[in-house]
Amino acid sequence: MCGIVGFTGKDQAVPFLLEGLQTLEYRGYDSAGIEVLSPDGGLHGVKCAGRVATLKERCATANLLGSTGIAHTRWATHGAPTDRNAHPHLDCSGRIAVVHNGIIENFRDLRAYLSRNGHTIVSDTDSEVVAHLIEDAWAGPAQGDLVAAVRNAVQRLEGSWALAVECADTPGQLVVARKGSPLVIASDEHGAYAASDITPLAAITSHVIQLEDDQFGLLRDDGSVTVYDKDGIEVAEPSTIDIDWDASAATLGGYADFMAKEIAEQPEALERLLEDRLGEHGVELDELSLSREQLAAIDRVYLVACGTSYHVCLIAKEMIEEWARIPVFCEYASELNYKDPLVTDHTLCVIVTQSGETADTLAAARRMRALGCNVFAITNVLGSTAARESDGTMYIQAGPEVCVASTKAYTAQMVAAALLALRLGYTNGTIDRAEVERHFRNLQAVPDLMREVIARRWQDKQAAQLFRDAHSSLFLGRGVNATTAYEGALKLKEISYLHAEAYPAGEMKHGPIALLEKGFPVVAIVPADHVHEKMVSNIQEVIARGASCVAVATDGDETVASMCQHTLWIPACPEELVTPIVAVVHLQLLARYVARSRGCDVDKPRNLAKSVTVE
Ligand code: M6R
Repeated sequence: MCGIVGFTGKDQAVPFLLEGLQTLEYRGYDSAGIEVLSPDGGLHGVKCAGRVATLKERCATANLLGSTGIAHTRWATHGAPTDRNAHPHLDCSGRIAVVHNGIIENFRDLRAYLSRNGHTIVSDTDSEVVAHLIEDAWAGPAQGDLVAAVRNAVQRLEGSWALAVECADTPGQLVVARKGSPLVIASDEHGAYAASDITPLAAITSHVIQLEDDQFGLLRDDGSVTVYDKDGIEVAEPSTIDIDWDASAATLGGYADFMAKEIAEQPEALERLLEDRLGEHGVELDELSLSREQLAAIDRVYLVACGTSYHVCLIAKEMIEEWARIPVFCEYASELNYKDPLVTDHTLCVIVTQSGETADTLAAARRMRALGCNVFAITNVLGSTAARESDGTMYIQAGPEVCVASTKAYTAQMVAAALLALRLGYTNGTIDRAEVERHFRNLQAVPDLMREVIARRWQDKQAAQLFRDAHSSLFLGRGVNATTAYEGALKLKEISYLHAEAYPAGEMKHGPIALLEKGFPVVAIVPADHVHEKMVSNIQEVIARGASCVAVATDGDETVASMCQHTLWIPACPEELVTPIVAVVHLQLLARYVARSRGCDVDKPRNLAKSVTVE
C-alpha cells in the first residue's frame, strides 16, 4: 500500500517520478504528490486527491524543475484521501520533505509531543510527524547531516516504514530508510533512484539494492549510493537482487487493461513453472530447505494466506491430503495471528502470497517460525520480504501482476502447491513414481485447456448481461470447486462492486436459498466430477425458485446446459484436482465483463490496494 519513488541526478526529476508513480499506482491510488528541489534552492511540489493522472495534469502547468525529488501514491490509512493528507509532507520550515509507506503506530504521542514543542502539524496523517522529527534532529544532534537526522528521527518511531527524504539544504542527496515496508535502490549514469518495488526500475537496470530492515541509504546525484546500518556504520555488501523480467512485462502491450493481459498470460506462466520439474525426487523442488528425511517426517502442514491466496490454500489442502495423506490446516493469516496453532516438531508451514509483502501473512510466518516450523513461501515477487524471511521460497515466475484482482498468480500458485503436494507424497511414499508422472502430465495439460477457455470468452461476455443490473449473486460449488465458487465471488465483488456470496452447494438449503427469487443470478460450478449429480440437484433447487443460473460445465453436458440460462464451457479435464485451475478462468473473465458493463475500473477497484502492508 502506497508507492514511493525518488530520484537525484543530473536530469530533470519529474519525468521519472511521474512515470514511476504510474507504474506503482497499483499499490494505492486515492491521492498522489510530488516535491522537487528546484534551482532556486527551495522545495516545490504538487499534491492532490485522486489518481496519478490528475497529478500529471497538475504538474503539466506547475513547471516543476529540479533534479532531486520524491513522489508518492497513497492508500489512505490515517486521514481521508484529500489534498492536505496527500504526501509528501513537509516540516515547519518547508525545507524537509518526506514520503512514507507503512504505519507509524505511535503517531498520536509523537503529534502531541511535537505540538507541545512548537511544531504545526497540518495533516491528519500518521506520516507527517516524521518530517517534524527530522527537522528537530537536523537542527539538534544531527547537526546538518541528513542521514544522521533521519536515523535519529526513526529511533522514535514504532510501526513500519519505507521513507524517502529530501532536504533543501542538502542538494543532490536523498535519504531512504526501511523497516517492515519494502524499498529498493538503483543507479546508472544519470543518477540514483529509489522505489517501493522493482517495477519502475526495470527499464533502468537489471540489478537493484534491496534495503533491509533498519538500514538507511544515501543516494547522491552522481549515482553513488551508500547503505548504512542502524548504528550508522556503512554496510560493505548491501543485499541485491537481479530483475529477471523486462520493463515491457509491466505495460499493457495492446490489452485494454492489465486484468485482460494477466488472464491471457496464465497458460505461459504455468508452462514456465512446470518446466524441468520431473526428476529423481519425483518432482524437483530445490527451493525446499529440508532434507529427504525431514520432508518424509512432516506430520502436518499449515497453509497460511489472505484473500485469493487463501483460496489457493484450500485447493492445496485437497491436493496434499489426497496425494501425500498429510493432515492440513488452512488459516487466514489475520486469524492465525490471534490463535494458538497446534504445531508439532514436524510441522511445515507454507505461506502463499503473490506480493510477498502482505503484513498479516508475514506476521503469521514469523510466529510459526518462532514456534519452530520450517516456513516455505510460495510467492511471485523476487526478493520480497516473504522470500527473505522464509526457510525456502518457490517463485511462481508469473511476471509482474499489476491488476489489483489476482488472476495469474492464483492459478500459478495452485500449480506450485500441486508440485509441493506431489513432492511430499513421493517422499513419504504415498504415491509412486508412475503416479507422480501421471499427475504431473495432467498438470502439463492445463495450459492448453486454459487457452481453450480464454478462446471462449464470448460466453462470459454474454453471461455478464445477467449481472449488470443485479444487486446480489450467489456462487455454488462442491468438493474442490466450492473453492472455485469462493474465488469467483471474490473476483466479482472486488472489481464490479456487486455483492456475491459463495457457498458449498449442499449448504445452500440451510440458509442462502432464502435469497433466491426470480432473476436472482446464481453461478454453479458443475464440471464432470464425482459430485456432478449432487450439483445437478442443487441447480434444480435454484431454478425451481425462478433464479437465473449460469453454469460452468464440461463440454457435452447437455443436462446442465438445458437447465441453465448460460453455460460457460470448459474442456474435459484429465483429473478432478485440476478442474479448479481451468474453471476459474471463466469466472475471472465473467467478473471482468460484469465490471466493465457496470463502468468499473477493473484494474484499480475502489478501496483496495495490490499489496496490503498493514495488519
Ligand atoms: O499478495 P498476497 O497474495 O499476499 O495478497 C493477498 C490478498 O490481499 C489478495 O489475494 C487479494 O485478495 C486480491 N485483491 C484478490 O484478487
